[in-house]
Amino acid sequence: MIVKIPATSANLGPGFDCLGLALQLYNSITIETDRPFRISLTGTYNEGIATDETNLVWRTMRHLWESINYPIPTVALTLENNIPPARGLGSSSAAIVGGLAAANVIAGTPLSKLELLQIANTLEGHPDNVTPALYGGITLAVSTENGILPRVLGQGTNLKAVVLIPNLRLKTEKARSILPPNVSRQDAVFNISHAGLLIDAFIRENYPLLKEAMRDMLHQNQRSVLIPGMFETLKAAEQAGAYGTALSGSGPTLIALVPEISKDDVRQKMLSTIGQFGVEAQALTLDMDHEGVIFSEK
Ligand code: HSE
Repeated sequence: MIVKIPATSANLGPGFDCLGLALQLYNSITIETDRPFRISLTGTYNEGIATDETNLVWRTMRHLWESINYPIPTVALTLENNIPPARGLGSSSAAIVGGLAAANVIAGTPLSKLELLQIANTLEGHPDNVTPALYGGITLAVSTENGILPRVLGQGTNLKAVVLIPNLRLKTEKARSILPPNVSRQDAVFNISHAGLLIDAFIRENYPLLKEAMRDMLHQNQRSVLIPGMFETLKAAEQAGAYGTALSGSGPTLIALVPEISKDDVRQKMLSTIGQFGVEAQALTLDMDHEGVIFSEK
């Protein structure tokens, strides 16, 4: 069996810890049952990935089986990692969502997607990457007293994403530790209104609204000190034709949502602008993922 999990971009500006979208860049997990335990790595980003029992995909699979009292099978896993780690593109969410989806199928699919989301949220800590990784599309995750309430807002039809991935790793814990514990009422109102506008823009596919709608006052200003040239690069993307721009998750990746016609200009402008700040980076132009995690028989 092969499980494919999309990369994700969280926050999208004002939607801190609740909005996200899925992208057509995938990690995959190939599972062979009734084999001696073994984890093999393929793909581009394998540095620092454990191949023993501490591996995050494997620990997540065990967690699911233990929580439903399913006897732990021995499996051989091949992990293909194409989502760069610690860049703000949801690599740890992909590991968790992939592990849960794989373990659930092996156990005979006892849990629904909504139940997997609740477990994924507990393991990951915030729901904004795991929700689009499970459902695909552009998603809102609402934390309620009964768990996460997921909504798929749209599919981003006719939108491309240019993701500029700086060659520096930034752990989410570090990028969260610099945020102040309290926010002003003024900033809260700014983000509530802009997140509302952003949802309106996605539902109606009214993309010219994105430029204003993706503005944020809760986290991007503080985090810009960790990413040289961040605001200059986002501005350059807008000037080159992007509808809207944001820091992807907790960074350091920057995301521009663009019309097809501007994608090459935006890509080049983002690369050249961040280069002026001495930051090496690669840029990918990606389509939206519409399905979320999927599995197929080998
Ligand atoms: N929303 C998180 C943050 C990152 O910005 O810290 C992804 O969960």
